[in-house]
Amino acid sequence: MTQLNRRSFLAAASATAMTTLTSRPSFAAANDELRVVVVGVNGIGRTHLNGFSQISGVRVVGACDVDSAVLGQRAEEHQKKFQQKLKTYNDMRRVLDDPDVDAVVLAIPNHWHALGTVWGCQAGKDVYTEKPCSHNIWEAGQMKKAADKYERIVQVGIQRRSFTHLQDFFQEVQAGALGKVKQVKGVYLTRRDSIGKPTGTLKPPATVNHDMWCGPAPTKLERAKYHYDWHWFWDYGNAELGNNGPHILDLCRWSIGAEEFPTAVSSVGGRYVWDDNGQTPNTHILRYEYAKAPITFEIRDLPTATGKKDTCKYMDISYGIVVEGEDATYVGFDTGKVIDPDGKVIREITGNTGSDGGRQLHRENFVKAVRSRNASELNCDVRTGHLSTALCHLGNISHRLGESVSLSSLNDQLQDQPLVQEAAKRMESHLEANGVDLASAQVEFGPTLAIAPKTESFPQSEAANGLLKREYRAPYVVPELV
Ligand SMILES: NC(=O)c1ccc[n+]([C@@H]2O[C@H](COP(=O)([O-])OP(=O)(O)OC[C@H]3O[C@@H](n4cnc5c(N)ncnc54)[C@H](O)[C@@H]3O)[C@@H](O)[C@H]2O)c1
Repeated sequence: MTQLNRRSFLAAASATAMTTLTSRPSFAAANDELRVVVVGVNGIGRTHLNGFSQISGVRVVGACDVDSAVLGQRAEEHQKKFQQKLKTYNDMRRVLDDPDVDAVVLAIPNHWHALGTVWGCQAGKDVYTEKPCSHNIWEAGQMKKAADKYERIVQVGIQRRSFTHLQDFFQEVQAGALGKVKQVKGVYLTRRDSIGKPTGTLKPPATVNHDMWCGPAPTKLERAKYHYDWHWFWDYGNAELGNNGPHILDLCRWSIGAEEFPTAVSSVGGRYVWDDNGQTPNTHILRYEYAKAPITFEIRDLPTATGKKDTCKYMDISYGIVVEGEDATYVGFDTGKVIDPDGKVIREITGNTGSDGGRQLHRENFVKAVRSRNASELNCDVRTGHLSTALCHLGNISHRLGESVSLSSLNDQLQDQPLVQEAAKRMESHLEANGVDLASAQVEFGPTLAIAPKTESFPQSEAANGLLKREYRAPYVVPELV
């Protein structure tokens, strides 16, 4: 593979951007074919290949992956399913150089989202990038600047934003449909397994270009399963909080119309039961202060009890939100119900969730905005994706600055945080059911960090400000000047 010199890449990229912007806005025309390449085709990228192929007027012309085995398999599947040969690329920069590509779908790991988006915009491509919007808070600002500067359409893959029944219902909630909202709770209660504890020097699969997979991040390999398990390492992933948190926290803040950063964040959690190399918590409670209503979020990756295969539930749901109003409470995820103070269901909130977990509606929304060249038609632009993703980053920052305290002291430590205290009681009994000795176990107790919503930073903590951004590994650097 040719390593393109960064300066020449940028020159080429901006030349492409100029060409594309001036001579080929033609895909805006309703009858023109929109040519899409999916970058990263192992997990969710596979569903994007299928989903975009089914949108009228869209042609998936290629796939890109740094794992040649994954790429080859997807090209073969596509040929069989759609009788169409995909152009294959092993370097996304070649996709961006290609004048026959209009838009890219970034289904690559979190640490690549910002750089891929900035490069895409510079090259004059429209971008659908997966959630979380960014790997850190600073990056999202660069993505927004790039989208604005190059007049690109950039959608973030938080797909429930494209559900019209939620758009309508959350407007009603903000207008008082539940009475004054007292608090919002998010839950993501799933079940995962340990990722193991391999030792010695691990080698990436022979089919992978590991340097390019790591891109902006360090290259040390500590996981046995190469794909997906990167979520549990801070260099690449953002914990379960940054994995499924963007979906849930987005619903939380959307329901109350919280259109800026919270004024404070705190975190309590740890990685329990599993003796493995993973770095991120599998049990986590977050609290966000908003003038409109406080948000708490509970995450559990362990089953209901040792040896069980099921997941916990809170108010009958494992994933979703509970919006507690003075008059009524909403419980839901893709759809939901409103219950009165006696627990009686008084209204069902349902609507079209499309296919593929809502992603198809979201893809269609992206294509519509690409054609109209009107970014305000996007259901989840960079700003919206950023505000929801930032909640994950803020929570992880509190967690990473936390101190280890004994679990048995937690109740006392949380005297001034009653909502977290209540959630912590559930957490403790869940851990006990999973064999954790509450008397001897520790928990990471994150500081309550004050946040200045206007500057999106921490006025009282330099340590926290230090985690707003990362060190980049050249030449994979998100530029200061996009
Ligand atoms: N919106 C949703 O509901 C949803 C669901 C699942 C995943 N996601 C997001 O999608 C992204 C991908 O998740 P996944 O589960 O498919 O991960 P994965 O690890 O299974 O697959 C990622 C693929 O990207 C490839 N890749 C890595 N770096 C690359 C690069 N620089 N250029 C080209 N290819 C590269 C890998 O080789 C791999 O094939 C993540 O950010 C995840 O959070 C979103």
